[in-house]
Amino acid sequence: MFVGVPKDRYINEKRVSVVPQDVERLKKLGAEVFVEKGAGESAGFSDEDYKEAGAEVLEREEVFERSELIIKVRVLSAEEEEFKREKDLYRQKIVVGTSEPFLLNEELIRLAEGLGLTVFSLELIPRITRAQSMDVLSSMATVSGYRAVMICANLLPKMFPMLMTAAGTILPAKVFVIGAGVAGLQAIATARRLGAVVEAYDIRPAVREQVESLGAKFVELGLETEEAQDKSGYAKEMGEEFYRRQREVMMEVVSRSDAVISTASVPGKKAPVLITREMVKSMKRGSVIVDLAAERGGNCELTKPGEVVEFEGVRVVGPLNLPSDLPGDSSRLFSRNIANFLGLVIKDGNIDVNKEDQIIRETLLFEGGTLVNERVKEFLGVS
Ligand code: NAI
Repeated sequence: MFVGVPKDRYINEKRVSVVPQDVERLKKLGAEVFVEKGAGESAGFSDEDYKEAGAEVLEREEVFERSELIIKVRVLSAEEEEFKREKDLYRQKIVVGTSEPFLLNEELIRLAEGLGLTVFSLELIPRITRAQSMDVLSSMATVSGYRAVMICANLLPKMFPMLMTAAGTILPAKVFVIGAGVAGLQAIATARRLGAVVEAYDIRPAVREQVESLGAKFVELGLETEEAQDKSGYAKEMGEEFYRRQREVMMEVVSRSDAVISTASVPGKKAPVLITREMVKSMKRGSVIVDLAAERGGNCELTKPGEVVEFEGVRVVGPLNLPSDLPGDSSRLFSRNIANFLGLVIKDGNIDVNKEDQIIRETLLFEGGTLVNERVKEFLGVS
């Protein structure tokens, strides 16, 4: 099995898909590993580190030419322009990475078909216990939740912890986390560690216990409902009337918070708008909103993806690709997830696409150029 690790060239992407520590794991599976020169540099891993770990360091074209299986952080819709530019390198390859499968368009589907591409899209890994060690969405959401708190701490004009000093008492920061999935729970834990008073809300009632176990208060809005959750544990899209009521009852909590971290999303859909202009206006000057749903349009009406918007003294941050801000640890987590996934797919040095296995079946997006993933086909309305 010849495995290639090219540098990810998407704008501002600093992660690398395989770190030197995991080269040995891949070799144990029977793989030869080729890494592009400088692939890990922006994440803090040198070519020497890869060589010492037993990989061969080559030019980009050679990595593609000599590899059957290509591992990347981003592929297809997750780096559309780059992928189209380099399409010829991918002919007949097996690719493992994140591909934003719900954003696939007609042109990319045709391209993948023409190239005879086989793609395992890691966002599709089922949320089951056995797959936890392969779940890149969880790993990257963990990094984002942590990083969101760091952004708040940097921008707020006040400290997080309560301090009793000879010069008087400093009150703790009040942080409100909207959406207590993986990113939200990590944001709660991080803000608590820094000493903030944290409140949180999610429409899935099942998370109340997790919120409370991290020392935060679950805000009662009287809206949470078992119906808000689908069978795979994700939130469902609710109607506009539901979101209108939610905004109404959340107004007071938002206005009393120094920082709001919003993470509410529904897979494959535009993020619901939960924080209006009026709600932002009601916050104290100097307050901060970090909108982790910015990539999906944002939970705040004022969010501009990739920008910091200032409105009435409140800063609204819409970060894109936060995991890439901490490329060392993000790459370590991503790489270990990939190595664990490949442990399932590579048998005795060969790829074994065993569709009896739920993880393999649900993660397989294209097989030999054919879009085979039922969940994605249904979402895109493709027969
Ligand atoms: P996500 O990133 O899709 O959404 C973030 C959070 O926003 C979710 O908790 C969702 O309920 C919430 N949300 C959606 N609409 C909202 C609204 N209007 N107001 C407030 N909150 C709203 O979610 P994530 O973090 O990917 O987790 C989804 C589910 O998958 C969770 O049940 C999680 O526990 C589960 N999970 C299971 C794993 C496993 O068993 N291997 C691994 C990771 C997650």
